[in-house]
Amino acid sequence: MPLATDDFLDIDDVTPAELDALLDRAAAMKAGETDPRLGDATLGMIFEKPSTRTRVSFETGMTRLGGHAMFLGPDDIQLGHGEPLRDTARVLGRYVDGVMARLFDHGDVEVLAEYADCPVINGLTDEAHPCQTLADLLTIRETVGEDATVAWVGDGNNVGQSFVVGAAMAGIDVRVATPAEYGMDPHVFDRAAEFGADVDPTTDPEAAVDGADIVYTDVWISMGQEDQRAEKLAAFEGFQVNQELLAGTDATVMHCLPAHRGEEVTDDVLESDRALVWDQAENRMHAQNALLVELLGGE
Ligand code: CP
Ligand code: NVA
Repeated sequence: MPLATDDFLDIDDVTPAELDALLDRAAAMKAGETDPRLGDATLGMIFEKPSTRTRVSFETGMTRLGGHAMFLGPDDIQLGHGEPLRDTARVLGRYVDGVMARLFDHGDVEVLAEYADCPVINGLTDEAHPCQTLADLLTIRETVGEDATVAWVGDGNNVGQSFVVGAAMAGIDVRVATPAEYGMDPHVFDRAAEFGADVDPTTDPEAAVDGADIVYTDVWISMGQEDQRAEKLAAFEGFQVNQELLAGTDATVMHCLPAHRGEEVTDDVLESDRALVWDQAENRMHAQNALLVELLGGE
């Protein structure tokens, strides 16, 4: 069943039923139960920021599906040298079958989707990271199951915002603990409420973690925020996911990676059996392959 949406700019561009079906397809593809192909499809991949997982999982995924992915970094195309995004979008749409973009401004990925005559996938903006959410939800299904309670602890950032909405769509109970000045956009909680979630954010990490099955964190200083390093490090004191915070819980730990060990999470936690992070990273490819088949129209 193809998706009703042409683009995947945030997790709630799909319906809960479509999300469920996407995760079913991802699990079946991961298990080798189904092997859909994308023929000669080409995915253009625009990157304004660095990436390991997003680039490699999409590029390898397209190869596995029988298609091709093209890396378009900031120094590679005219976009980085003054060509307007609208023009880039219109031209790319004449060549490729889909565009995946990692951009700073979320408005830019919307412009891309408006002007490119092909599906556009958000590979991370300052506001959202829906492909990460797909992988996170697949990982939760495989481990704790969807009756999980997940505590997001740390920055109210792109990864957290998409996750809160996606978790609500999947019926997962979410708590959110951030410093008051680095909370999520309140609209995120309104979007989660549309799927029946009543998220009540707190500034108390211990309260959020109490009784949680999973503790999820991400870097305190996201790409593009390097000049805020000193003030953010001060604001996040007490929000580190460490053995002390996890003491008295059986919680597993999620992190989208890359991690800054010693800041938002300790080395010993990431190296412990609690960490689900390697499965999360692997699941990026399986989840995105399912998305690519749905959006680009696999056989
Ligand atoms: N989690 C994630 O998107 O990682 P990259 O920045 O390496 O792509
Ligand atoms: N919040 C991080 C996620 C990286 C995948 C960032 O935006 O840098």
